[in-house]
Amino acid sequence: MDSRKVARRIETLREEIRRHDRAYYVEARPTIPDAEYDALLAELVALEEEHPELRTADSPTQRVGGEPLEGFVTVRHAAPMLSLDNTYSAEELRKFDDRVRRGLALEADAPPVTYEVEPKIDGVAVTLRYEQGRFAVGATRGNGVEGDDITRNLATVRSLPLVLPDGAPEVLEVRGEVYLTHDGFQRMNEQVRAEGREPFVNPRNSTAGTLKLLDSRIVARRPLRIAVYGMVAPTSHGLATQTEAGAYLRDLGFPALEGQIAQGADGVLALVDEWAKRKDTLGYDVDGLVIKVDRFAEQDDLGFTSRFPRWAIAYKFPAEEKPTKLLDIVLQVGRTGAVTPTAILEPVFVSGTTVSRATLHNADEIERLDVRVGDTVVVKKAGEIIPKVERVVLEKRPRGLRKFRYPTTCPRCGNDLVREEGEVVIYCVNASCPAQLERSLMHYASRGAMDIEGLGEKLVLQLVSEGLVTKIDDLYDLTVEQLLELERMGEKSATNLVEAIAASRERGLARLLFGLGIRHVGAQVARVLARAFRSLDALEAATEEELEGTEEVGPVIAASVRHFLDQPGNRDLLRSLRKRGVVTEEPDTGAPPPGEGILAGQTVVVTGTLARFTRKEIEDLIERHGGKAAGSVSKKTSFVVAGESAGSKKDKAESLGVPVLTEDEFLARVGEA
Ligand code: IVH
Repeated sequence: MDSRKVARRIETLREEIRRHDRAYYVEARPTIPDAEYDALLAELVALEEEHPELRTADSPTQRVGGEPLEGFVTVRHAAPMLSLDNTYSAEELRKFDDRVRRGLALEADAPPVTYEVEPKIDGVAVTLRYEQGRFAVGATRGNGVEGDDITRNLATVRSLPLVLPDGAPEVLEVRGEVYLTHDGFQRMNEQVRAEGREPFVNPRNSTAGTLKLLDSRIVARRPLRIAVYGMVAPTSHGLATQTEAGAYLRDLGFPALEGQIAQGADGVLALVDEWAKRKDTLGYDVDGLVIKVDRFAEQDDLGFTSRFPRWAIAYKFPAEEKPTKLLDIVLQVGRTGAVTPTAILEPVFVSGTTVSRATLHNADEIERLDVRVGDTVVVKKAGEIIPKVERVVLEKRPRGLRKFRYPTTCPRCGNDLVREEGEVVIYCVNASCPAQLERSLMHYASRGAMDIEGLGEKLVLQLVSEGLVTKIDDLYDLTVEQLLELERMGEKSATNLVEAIAASRERGLARLLFGLGIRHVGAQVARVLARAFRSLDALEAATEEELEGTEEVGPVIAASVRHFLDQPGNRDLLRSLRKRGVVTEEPDTGAPPPGEGILAGQTVVVTGTLARFTRKEIEDLIERHGGKAAGSVSKKTSFVVAGESAGSKKDKAESLGVPVLTEDEFLARVGEA
């Protein structure tokens, strides 16, 4: 064939395959037998192999995967990927509706709020970015702000369009859930078993595991699916409601979830009843419903808390409960020295996984349940994944079982355990207890902290038990030769680990502070402190009052940070980390230090659709000028920036006498007009 003919044939094949993909995966109405489809794809693969110059990133051959990657690159999301608050009862759902009504400043006799209700698919959240109508980047949620670039793996998911029809926006970012059907999961596990490997425990785990594979050719062989449930900045595409957004996404070829409309809490509850029956007939895991305020203008008015949107909530179906035998109660020592009792159970299958351990929380809980080794207990999955012991089946208690006596010494180092007045938690206060060191190292190396790839639980235990690491800073002195002494450690892994440890030096102050495991300093507080003080030197020099003067930092955090920095052992540790080249400054993000900038001390609320900015961009701008962007209007709000179709927030500001600025007036105020 001459090359013009080849190019034409390739284009025809691509179009035909895309059409079949869409019919099969999006519209669920197959147009040709599998064998014919496979033949078309094979022909295309062969032609592209002969003519590599005609290969394109959006060709359906991407569906079969490509050369393995070395690792994933981190990408920053255009808008944070938040999660949802959970509810478990009708009462909690009514409270949510009450909060929404209050947030929208609705009078008691105002009509019910319109909600859109969708199944909550139990899979893995991803974001998909399309540029010029082509699938450009796909990423995992990660920490919500940054995730892994898994574009190549996602490109193999057949129901995900690689090309959008003409007229699609220049840039579009959609959000969805990747999952496996029960059938797909079973098929995949048969494959895995046939290859002599350990099968996966449930569809969600295997989806997550598959998306993390570096070899997209393996991913291509697994029957992953995607359901799309949202998009970034829908109003900028002229959409007014969640329902419209769903239809719009379907028109573009996305397998978007079909929502149902419900009026008020009563309408939602009727759907809850309907779904409780339906959910087990779908052929894939749905762990609840997602209830969203339908109108985007109202969503905007409601805004977000620091973790969740105020305009949506998840309703979780009641968790499955199963009886099993309690074989033992063991104590585990955490990085703060807190000791938690864990139930060792006869393995039992609950809500999709086999459970053999469950938390018992603390000594009081054991007392309250009066749980004894040898009892039959009921276990259930609490909220998310961690199973818990719900109650004892007393009728089944064998005669003569002894009450559980809480140990008085640390199971790891033998030191006395201490319970402070009024506290439920029992601590091992021996600072050199190896269990504490192990937990501290695992936390230090974890992804949200210093992100040392390859330094997982097993290796930490080895390093500690071999005495190679006795303090966090010892990590930076490890050599390849030392690591090679460890069991099952090869040259390549040892070199990689030393490199990963070295790379962790550059993470910056926020991650370092979080990684140190200071009580009450989570990832968010660590970021706030790093932004405010910029360097460890400045932080160490700060008084408790100065710490408390920082936005978002209260007396408990301030005291805890000061206490940590005052311990001679910690001072030594920080000095040593510096000496080993660990960066103790925070890179400059352009925001002025707190208290400076034209908007210093001012709280600004943005509402409605702006002409020039996305919500995130204007909030960044506010922060760059030293101000704070907030979600809801109160007397403390300095001013409101109102865009197109601003609703109740603007009204509220006006009724409180809070100034309302247009976008232009705002820009003039910060000197960027
Ligand atoms: S909407 C701001 N809709 O559940 C977050 N999420 O806990 C909006 N999920 O991270 C999320 N099905 O991964 C939404 N129909 C659905 C969903 C859904 C599953 C997942 C998603 C999200 C998590 C929230």
